[in-house]
Amino acid sequence: MSNSVINNATYNYKVVRQFAIMTVVWGIVGMAVGVLIAAQLAWPQLNFDTPWFSFGRLRPLHTNAVIFAFGTSALIATSFYVVQRTCQARLFSDALASFVFWGWQAVIVLAIITLPMGLTSTKEYAELEWPIDILVVVVWVAYATVFFGTIVKRKTSHIYVANWFYGAFIIMIAILYVVNNLAIPVSLTKSYSIFPGAIDAMVQWWWGHNAVGFLLTTGFLGMMYYFVPKQAERPVYSYRLSIVHFWALITIYVWAGAHHLHYSALPDWAQTAGMVMSLILLAPSWGGMINGMMTLSGAWHKLRTDPILRFLVVALSFYGMSTFEGPMMSIKTVNALSHNTDWTIGHVHAGALGWVAMISIGSLYHLIPRLFGLKEMYSTSLINAHFWMSTIGTVLYIASMWVNGITQGLMWRAVNDDGTLTYSFAESITASYPGYVVRAIGGAIFLLGMLVMAYNVWMTVRQREAEAVDNLPQTA
Ligand code: HEM
Ligand code: HEM
Repeated sequence: MSNSVINNATYNYKVVRQFAIMTVVWGIVGMAVGVLIAAQLAWPQLNFDTPWFSFGRLRPLHTNAVIFAFGTSALIATSFYVVQRTCQARLFSDALASFVFWGWQAVIVLAIITLPMGLTSTKEYAELEWPIDILVVVVWVAYATVFFGTIVKRKTSHIYVANWFYGAFIIMIAILYVVNNLAIPVSLTKSYSIFPGAIDAMVQWWWGHNAVGFLLTTGFLGMMYYFVPKQAERPVYSYRLSIVHFWALITIYVWAGAHHLHYSALPDWAQTAGMVMSLILLAPSWGGMINGMMTLSGAWHKLRTDPILRFLVVALSFYGMSTFEGPMMSIKTVNALSHNTDWTIGHVHAGALGWVAMISIGSLYHLIPRLFGLKEMYSTSLINAHFWMSTIGTVLYIASMWVNGITQGLMWRAVNDDGTLTYSFAESITASYPGYVVRAIGGAIFLLGMLVMAYNVWMTVRQREAEAVDNLPQTA
């Protein structure tokens, strides 16, 4: 280990370390809330008869914590690392980078306070009220300035493809977030969207779907394009494919949001356009998956011994799976069965746990030792144990939600000969109970894996401190 790496004047690793550690912390917080709300759906007594602990308030807390605290911290940590390494330049401004860290933590803390209080704009994934939105925008502009400023001062001639993906994520999220959150404030804690009725719904899902497309997909593909080749010690399979699927992905994603509004007041042609674009989206999505997978050509044997690579490859498999499932669910006749059922929730978590969380976890295991000047994590067998917990947890989660979703969809549409409904809604809930228990168990196993990770990270950081002491110059 060398302190020279850590104190290296070339790169700003401090802010990367801060975001990397907070990714683990917020991951645990967000997933713990996820396990709690999963348990509430099986055992409603856990709402404790208080509004603060009710499912309705904790659900947005979960989604905001996992997407904006866990996922976005992972993206900022890795993007700041990758942009410096691939541009061979220090971050554009240390002061601004530090502001991004503390500003983003402030946003998260404000979300943790206001959402359980029931303060919400009521738009999904955009629940935060207007004063917090303004802070989000200020921090995001600072983030964009640091990221693109670093690209401008790069010492390399070309811009490595990972940065294209991170860059598209940063720009598109800024545009979508601002437009969807345009609102008229009526007090410090309440505002109303400026868009009316069906237009509001369209704008909301233009944002909602592209939060998936640009935050949960494009940003994480940026992560994939750096950490998969690094960990596999192989070059990206096809640079040309990466560029082609990049432009195809970002061009098509923005048109697909209407698949969230099938059979709604939205004009029929818009629904159909959303469906068609979603089907086409399969191609660029799989372009990324195949490019990542094929990067392992000649390195497959490493999967036997390297649990970090296993995290990355299994993440790519779940990415491939959820981007096959998504286009299928966007077909209107399939959506007529899946919409509003647990099938959607299973699809979400195939992407969220299988892809987003697992690619982040794999990347962090690669990144964290290097940030602290070490070659590897404290324990490889603990990484392996974590890998199995994540995989088993994810499979239990999505399999139980498939069973529940299809059961619910079929029960809701079943009709007797005389045209009356065969089942009451309550009967479909009773039928879903075993699935809810299995999902809560799967989620708890995934969360346990995160706690194992926290211990491993803690011991790694301590090891670095111990080595730093060992390396101090000896005095008589
Ligand atoms: C231990 C892990 C997790 C558990 C147990 C869990 C559990 C849950 C539960 C119970 C819901 C509500 C489902 C419903 O309303 O019927 C939910 C929603 C959601 N979760 Fe998770 N979750 C976990 C991890 C994650 C992660 C890591 C992400 C994102 C990176 C995520 C993203 C979401 C999203 C976007 C929704 C809303 C889905 C929708 O509205 O269709 N979750 N989660
Ligand atoms: C080609 C890619 C994809 C397509 C075409 C697609 C399509 C869909 C469709 C049709 C729905 C159901 C909408 C409804 O009935 O309400 C859906 C829901 C959802 N998908 Fe995907 N999906 C894709 C990939 C992903 C990935 C990779 C993730 C996560 C990382 C993801 C996250 C979500 C979320 C969070 C929802 C629930 C939104 C909500 O109702 O709150 N999707 N997706």
